[in-house]
Amino acid sequence: MKIAIIGTGYVGLVTGVCLAEIGHEVTCIDTNLEKVDQLKKGISPIYEPGLEELMEKNRAAGRLEFTNNSIIGLKDQEVIYIAVGTPQSEDGAADLTYVFNAARNIGENITRNVVVVTKSTVPIGTNAKVRQLVMSNLQDNVCAEVVSNPEFLREGSAIHDSFNGDRIVIGTDNQEAGDIVEEINKPFGLPILRTSLHSAEMIKYASNAFLATKISFINEIANLSEKTNAHIEEVAKGIGMDSRIGNKFLNAGIGYGGSCFPKDTQALVKISEDCNHDFHLLKSVITINENQKTLLVRKAKERFGTLRGMKVALLGLAFKPDTDDMREAASISVAHELVEEGAEVIGYDPIAADNAKKVLPEEVLYADQIEEAIKQADVVFILTEWKEIVEKTLILSTLFMNEPIIFDGRNCYTNEDLYNLEVEYISVGRENLSKIR
Ligand code: UGA
Repeated sequence: MKIAIIGTGYVGLVTGVCLAEIGHEVTCIDTNLEKVDQLKKGISPIYEPGLEELMEKNRAAGRLEFTNNSIIGLKDQEVIYIAVGTPQSEDGAADLTYVFNAARNIGENITRNVVVVTKSTVPIGTNAKVRQLVMSNLQDNVCAEVVSNPEFLREGSAIHDSFNGDRIVIGTDNQEAGDIVEEINKPFGLPILRTSLHSAEMIKYASNAFLATKISFINEIANLSEKTNAHIEEVAKGIGMDSRIGNKFLNAGIGYGGSCFPKDTQALVKISEDCNHDFHLLKSVITINENQKTLLVRKAKERFGTLRGMKVALLGLAFKPDTDDMREAASISVAHELVEEGAEVIGYDPIAADNAKKVLPEEVLYADQIEEAIKQADVVFILTEWKEIVEKTLILSTLFMNEPIIFDGRNCYTNEDLYNLEVEYISVGRENLSKIR
């Protein structure tokens, strides 16, 4: 099938590359000329394991092209995906400017009947507006149908998820258009769920809101476990063995970040408000998460009284491992609070340091190596559980710090890991495992 994809951000690029990999002829369109030039050279604008290799393979096979020219890119296409960003507006709603621009662009440039597939996360009812916009901008006597096909990929494992996801949701009120998108997706070999247009749009928001709720819930239980001398990992294991609850997404820590959960939960609250519905639960989930991000700073203040003049190494700056994405990362709130408290902050991240420099306070210093960060520190904060950070922090702290003290926001170590080590270790939802010898 000949497919065009508008938008080569994280969603559009991964979708384009994976659709090419299963045999489709894909043209990725982006207005950013510099980005398109890089992509043509085989350079991905985002760090995503396995993406560049797959991109290169499919470009070489002639199934994947990049252009910034919509007229050429949209000509003769059977199916056009919209995969542009829907950033958060000031009032919390999703900003649909790019989606609607893409719809107008499609209307103006298509030369045959098309199916428009929306990958971008959009509020319920948006796809109907997309269809109206395409139809009202048509230049030729052709027609467009719309399908909502939300993405459920996780950054850092997006390629793996594309071929191993739990389901593909195809929502449309036009049977034939749905059949075409189902046919496109069949080679992925994943369960396909057909729904109405509005249900598919809602499934995306409901999924992310539910996962965010799970995280805030386990974080509240962790906070309570500390006060009651329970151990959050044991608790999570015990509740997760109930198949109705499930054992995934029960890792307590310093909350969720990234480009999706924070934005989508806010947007769903806004959608609810617009329908005169007060989504109390989701509002609490958001508040709990905001508080959780700076938990380690509160713990450190409790432990030391003041942080003024202390050197704090922040290990892991990205919102989660295996990505260079800094959007809504806990490190942003933590660094700001530490600087306000008068601490000296030394940041380290295996991949995200360059992006971190753009968003962390200018007072933050950076180390190129984890060793360097720990050597300079009076106290270490683990914010992201990168493999390197988990493997090295404990041992390097004992080697390089006079009185090693680690505040771990991701519960990377167990009692056994700490056995026989002279380390004070403070984590989330567990008794203070300090200096267990
Ligand atoms: C999330 C969803 O998992 C995807 O299904 C969805 O497609 C995507 O948003 C999206 O809407 O595009 P992502 O933001 O890449 O994916 O990251 P996750 O792996 O879900 O992690 C999100 C945050 O939750 C991270 O900050 C992570 O540290 C935190 N988290 C996750 C926890 O604190 N505890 C957990 O048990 C799991």
